[in-house]
Amino acid sequence: MNLARRSMNHPALAAVYERAWRPAAFFAASGRTMETDRRDAVRQLRLGGSKKVLDIACGPGNFTRFLSNTLSGNGFAVGLDYSEAMLARAVLDNTGPRVGYLRGDAARLPFADGTFDAVCCFGALYLIPDPLTAAREMVRVLAPGGRIAISTSHRDDSAFGRFSRVVGGWSGLRVFPSATFPELFTELGLVDVEQQVHRLLQYVSATRPA
Ligand SMILES: C[S@@+](CC[C@H](N)C(=O)[O-])C[C@H]1O[C@@H](n2cnc3c(N)ncnc32)[C@H](O)[C@@H]1O
Repeated sequence: MNLARRSMNHPALAAVYERAWRPAAFFAASGRTMETDRRDAVRQLRLGGSKKVLDIACGPGNFTRFLSNTLSGNGFAVGLDYSEAMLARAVLDNTGPRVGYLRGDAARLPFADGTFDAVCCFGALYLIPDPLTAAREMVRVLAPGGRIAISTSHRDDSAFGRFSRVVGGWSGLRVFPSATFPELFTELGLVDVEQQVHRLLQYVSATRPA
């Protein structure tokens, strides 16, 4: 297991991830705050009402609870992650009446086809050994009419981008060209594909036709 994946299993990183690591590292990479990312996630996923939401690689639940707060009726959000340390933190910091957490692998989701109205995976595909298999799994569990949203690394050819690729490559992080996820989602039959690029990060969302 590489350094980046090992660190996600460490209780010390899990303890500071939501308050310090995530805001600082993602602001440096994209110029965006976690609050902006959270609000955009709700918009991209078109959340509200009784939707069933799956937050893949949820870490300490820093998006899962926020997303669940937009739901009502029978709506709920499930956070899935492979790190026990992150999930222990999620249960401490981000519980709520519409939230549950589950340990699992993004590349082999323990859910039937079409289970969720919204599926998201923020800040994690660059850590997952087989990211395209994981992305296909996300689409598999998405219900007709449902929306998927991901954020991940983006290949940026500025000096800062090249420097980050060297550091990221050393720790085991992958970098994706802009076409990878829009093309995959289109190939899988999704529509209304939207993409935004903010420096070293890209945000892609799409709809499974009803
Ligand atoms: C940087 S955190 C992202 C947390 C949150 N989604 C966010 O955007 O802040 C990345 C998470 O991906 C999880 N992860 C990495 N590979 C995974 C896999 N194959 N299956 C499930 N979770 C995985 C790690 O345990 C870690 O908690």
